[in-house]
Amino acid sequence: MSLPRLRKLLKPFLFSVLVVMLFFELPTSFVRRFRQDSDGALDFATLAPPPAATAEHPKARPPRTQAPLGKHRYRADGLVETNLDGPHPIYELISRAEQEWEAKLERASKTLDEAVAEYKRRYSRKPPKGFDLWWSYVTEHNVQLPDEYDQIHNDLEAFWGLEPADLIAIQQENESKKDSYTIGKNDSGVIEVLTYAFDDGRYDQLIVGSRKIVEMLRQVEDYLPPFRMTLSPHDGPNRLTDHGVKEALLGAVEGRTYLDRASLPKIRTLGWVSACPPDSPARLKKINLDNPPPRPLKKTFIYDHVRTMDPCNHPDLFHHHGQFLSHNSGPSPQHVIVPEFSYCSTTIHHNIRVPVPYSWVEDILPRSDDPEFDDKIDERLMWRGSNTGMFHSSTSRWEHSHRDFLVSYTNDLEGTISVLEPNKTRMEKVGEPRELRKARVNPAVMDIAFGGKPLACSASTCGLLKEIYPFRERQSIREAGNYKYIIDVDGNGWSGRFKRLMTTNSMVFKSTIYPEWYADRVAPWVHYVPIQVDLSDLHDALFFFRGDGNGDGAHEHLSRKIAVAGRKWSKTFWRQEDLISYFFRLTLEYARLMNLDREAMSYSD
Ligand SMILES: *[C@@H]1O[C@H](CO)[C@@H](O)[C@H](O)[C@H]1NC(C)=O
Ligand SMILES: *[C@@H]1O[C@H](CO)[C@@H](O)[C@H](O)[C@H]1NC(C)=O
Ligand SMILES: *[C@@H]1O[C@H](CO)[C@@H](O)[C@H](O)[C@H]1NC(C)=O
Repeated sequence: MSLPRLRKLLKPFLFSVLVVMLFFELPTSFVRRFRQDSDGALDFATLAPPPAATAEHPKARPPRTQAPLGKHRYRADGLVETNLDGPHPIYELISRAEQEWEAKLERASKTLDEAVAEYKRRYSRKPPKGFDLWWSYVTEHNVQLPDEYDQIHNDLEAFWGLEPADLIAIQQENESKKDSYTIGKNDSGVIEVLTYAFDDGRYDQLIVGSRKIVEMLRQVEDYLPPFRMTLSPHDGPNRLTDHGVKEALLGAVEGRTYLDRASLPKIRTLGWVSACPPDSPARLKKINLDNPPPRPLKKTFIYDHVRTMDPCNHPDLFHHHGQFLSHNSGPSPQHVIVPEFSYCSTTIHHNIRVPVPYSWVEDILPRSDDPEFDDKIDERLMWRGSNTGMFHSSTSRWEHSHRDFLVSYTNDLEGTISVLEPNKTRMEKVGEPRELRKARVNPAVMDIAFGGKPLACSASTCGLLKEIYPFRERQSIREAGNYKYIIDVDGNGWSGRFKRLMTTNSMVFKSTIYPEWYADRVAPWVHYVPIQVDLSDLHDALFFFRGDGNGDGAHEHLSRKIAVAGRKWSKTFWRQEDLISYFFRLTLEYARLMNLDREAMSYSD
């Protein structure tokens, strides 16, 4: 080889060495800064180093001459960026998540006094009236992690900044909004649907969702103050937030005061990004839905799942999810904030989420339909479901909607995909990813298809869907029980099957944009594996656990561990009692918020 040619070949290599060296220093300072920025919950710098050997590689030792391993970069947006000179990031993600989870369990309040003190520490105010009754429920029913209800706080905090009389008026005005129903206590103190606003003929269909919610609240109705709670009967949220309005309200909360509705700032009609801060990635670069963002170059993984659900920091979500795609660049935001509840919500809507009782299952029965992890024979990643998520027609951008993308991406046979080597120990550099032919990888490791027939489509598009996607028979629970690895994705709204999947002995991968009621009491990488909506980490994560097409590089002991922990979580943290505990506490908070005298509705010890 001639010298100039060699130089030319080496140039990019030398450059990347330089880049790697630069990055080598960066992560530590970033972690330090991040530690200061965050609320102290994620103290990465103090976490112990990982153990030296794994079950798969019991004799692994770092070669004596090897340079120290590079550090991965934990970004404020919830993703960790892989340093190829560091070990495979999943080792660290699991160890960290396990330690944080243990610490959370450890520090949980054990008495009412401790819980009150912790409440005041977190939220700088007294708990709501009835908190002691709620605490009795929690202790009687063995509800775990009683301090971890930040989701309720996040959902309600901005409403604290609005004059209570205005908030009450807004709620009343919206009780008659089409497609809503209102529950509360009637004059005999019984919880029921108090009013509804549905088009003629739609009552039976739209009221269904109220039944189990009413049933659930009735179990604690004697302890609940009067309230009127308006809910949307649809799958998704509908109240887009205006960033300026929300900031003004949160500013008022900080100053321990509130604004009246007339003094709220004017909204900015920018579509979805109305909800985003002016300096957020979603606002800095114009979003062009006809031009999907390029696939990410760096290998990233989720370490904080809820943070990655925020489309203001992850504008690619506008391109990859039916929740957003179905309204193109988005509706106008609300002029005020409207206290309307919904079955799920996103970080840019201000609908208040309820714990949805619909997906609850006691267990997978008969248990023989769900063999032990090691007895499951199929090691491909499984998914079956309908092509919901958005309507499919010649004028809608359904190709990139989350379910369509899942099926097309995992069945794609053209070109190559780069995957991190799963067979490196935690003491080795993970190194450059390998380029693998999709035609070899996807059929070997994926069993993902739509079930049944195309729906949510115009007549001509239905035909097209049938041609381009695999549609297979729906699977029974028993058939699903054969798979070690299952992925869960959103549908028209939140995924109703997560509870069921978590109750199996399979390991669950989950991709979603809806933070749910259990978000503070579950740990990704301990109970399930979080996957980005663009699926850019899917093959890497799957290979890490199950190995490559031949199973080489598998970490099955970790898969088994997560599968077992997931099922245990489902049976301990997502019981009827856990749903009720959340709804109980949420209702106490909401009743105080909607009262002219919020102080009188606070708990005094
Ligand atoms: C909901 O309340 C807001 C604020 O009061 C009001 O502007 C809006 O018209 C109401 N919506 C409906 C459909 O009644
Ligand atoms: C309250 O609701 C219960 C259950 O639906 C009903 O039996 C009762 O008559 C209602 N009371 C009033 C005053 O409407
Ligand atoms: C890991 O897998 C790659 C590709 O199959 C192979 O070339 C390499 O030798 C393996 N490394 C180890 C440490 O087994």
